[in-house]
Amino acid sequence: MTFQADLLFGRTALITGGGTGICRGIALALAAHGCDVAIMSRSAEHLAPTADEIRATGRRAVAVPADVRDPAAVEAAVTRTVEELGGLDILVNGAAGNFLCLAEQLSPNGFGAVVDIDLKGTFHCSKAVLPHLKKNGGVVLNISATLHYLGTPAQLHVAAAKAGVDALTRVLAVEWGPYGIRVNGIAPGPIADTEGVRRLLDDAAKQRAEKTTPLQRLGLIKDVSDAALFLCSKAASYITGVTLVVDGGLWLTSSRHAFAAPPEAP
Ligand code: HXC
Ligand code: NAP
Repeated sequence: MTFQADLLFGRTALITGGGTGICRGIALALAAHGCDVAIMSRSAEHLAPTADEIRATGRRAVAVPADVRDPAAVEAAVTRTVEELGGLDILVNGAAGNFLCLAEQLSPNGFGAVVDIDLKGTFHCSKAVLPHLKKNGGVVLNISATLHYLGTPAQLHVAAAKAGVDALTRVLAVEWGPYGIRVNGIAPGPIADTEGVRRLLDDAAKQRAEKTTPLQRLGLIKDVSDAALFLCSKAASYITGVTLVVDGGLWLTSSRHAFAAPPEAP
């Protein structure tokens, strides 16, 4: 059997938040499988080095600075992407904001900032790419989380935003399926060496997460980018409206605190 590195050959993708962290990993994975990639976020400094890494794989890269909260800027970024790459097949909505803050202390602006980036940003970008994805069918992939599956403290703003993102995934899957557009999500658990984990988990919390996770480790960026490759490729042709949890089983373990403990790991 030969190793297939052209799962997405000839495809084009736009990845928000693609300059850093998990979405940089997704950008590089898609490029390694033949996809030309545009990356978008607020800071040109975050985008330029990743765009160079994409070009080093032999694919075309476009770095488009834009704020996903600004629908006009998003429209312009999509137009530029299509002009430079000649079309658009895949959108990955990864741009997000997060900080720890109890609801009691959270200001309206703090709540709004995260909802505006994660949820409204996902709406603006999905809307802006629709005319292009309609031409040949395509894929929207929304990066969510598992924080809203339970009552995660100090994460009200993010939980509300990501719950909304999951709702967008389901509704758009139904509305856009007839256009040949698949809309899915990925819900990562804590992923090592990312800004999200730096902001949310100190060393003790990381160790607790490792022990509690059935697969006994934090996630890797590659765990998420492998799932993204699958969902963006023809291997997932009949999958839409799904948010795939990539967390080593962590979110399921809340029952562990209420019922009998599972066997100790060897
Ligand atoms: C309380 C805070 C705060 C904090 C900001 N705010 N940080 N409130 N605690 N630590 C409040 C501000 O006081 C302000 O409200 C409002 O939020 C907007 O703040 P700004 O700094 O003006 O916003 P902005 O410059 O737009 O920045 C957005 C941001 C910032 C989300 C606040 O942190 C950011 O740019 N983040 C991008 C990178 C990031 O967060 N990556 C992690 C993604 S990981 P007031 O009322 O004062 O005006 C993730 C999931 C991880 O999402 C899951 C791991 C398991
Ligand atoms: P990250 O590197 O900070 O990624 C967030 C990206 O969003 C950054 O590249 C940032 O770039 C961009 N961004 C933020 N605000 C923006 C805005 N208004 N407009 C455009 N771009 C904006 O964090 P990460 O930890 O890798 O997280 C990536 C994704 O995975 C997020 O959706 C996050 O919610 C999700 N997630 C992460 C984890 C984890 O363990 N890390 C767990 C669950 C879910 P600029 O600063 O240049 O704008």
